[in-house]
Amino acid sequence: MMTFKVGLVGAGAFGIKHLLGFSKNPDCELISIASRTEEHAKIASEKFNIPKVYAGNDSWEKMIDSEKLDVVSICTPNYLHAPIILKAIEKNCHILCEKPIAISHEELEQIEPVLNAKNLIFFTSFQKRYNPIFNLVRSAIDEGILGKITSVRYFFSHYGPYKSWKALSEEKWFFDSEKAGGGVLLDLGVHCIDILQYLLGEYDKVNGINFNTSCINMDDEDNCNVLFRFK
Ligand SMILES: NC(=O)c1ccc[n+]([C@@H]2O[C@H](COP(=O)([O-])OP(=O)(O)OC[C@H]3O[C@@H](n4cnc5c(N)ncnc54)[C@H](OP(=O)(O)O)[C@@H]3O)[C@@H](O)[C@H]2O)c1
Repeated sequence: MMTFKVGLVGAGAFGIKHLLGFSKNPDCELISIASRTEEHAKIASEKFNIPKVYAGNDSWEKMIDSEKLDVVSICTPNYLHAPIILKAIEKNCHILCEKPIAISHEELEQIEPVLNAKNLIFFTSFQKRYNPIFNLVRSAIDEGILGKITSVRYFFSHYGPYKSWKALSEEKWFFDSEKAGGGVLLDLGVHCIDILQYLLGEYDKVNGINFNTSCINMDDEDNCNVLFRFK
């Protein structure tokens, strides 16, 4: 049976989680890893028996050009998602990209037509959809057990990557506006919006407020309240 040849970019905290998943999947073969710091790439390659290692800022480009990959898994800081996606599409690779897919609307507009022109699978990490609790809630809504839903409150927060899940890179990109591309709305809001759509369908009105409480040293919002009206 055919196995998918996988190359992963970004040997950080979430890269390791992707590697754990791929290494348990008999349909996948981990071929190569690319990361900015050679030591980080090597630690991951040794742990998961990945034969080829690429290091440096252009490691992802070299890897995608040199290896015959079926799948590219993208676990880099946010600002690199779109360029790596575009390169992977050019080389006809299926893509698993960490959220957020891009850091601007312009980037999404660049990705959409080239992706749609090819028969590739593109998947982003909205893993909460696979949490059994949300499946249960959706069944309860669909079966009418909860009656008419008039209001939902969804709270989501964390202490930042360096305390919450030990993001690895010394680049410390997460609180850097240009590299992260935004604050809490982009980081956590995308998960909330995905789950609300999964449970309730499409919304037609939205308003909200972003603010920075200055609890952490960052330019973007560290707090956000959003109100959606669902159709
Ligand atoms: N789905 C979720 O719930 C969830 C949760 C957390 C994070 N994420 C997402 O996962 C992504 C990674 O976050 P993280 O927490 O894993 O960060 P991280 O630990 O800092 O990992 C980022 C990795 O990317 C590598 N990298 C940076 N520039 C690179 C380049 N030019 N070429 C190749 N590799 C490069 C870094 O290498 P060095 O170590 O050498 O600097 C680092 O290993 C982000 O997009 C984040 O939003 C998703």
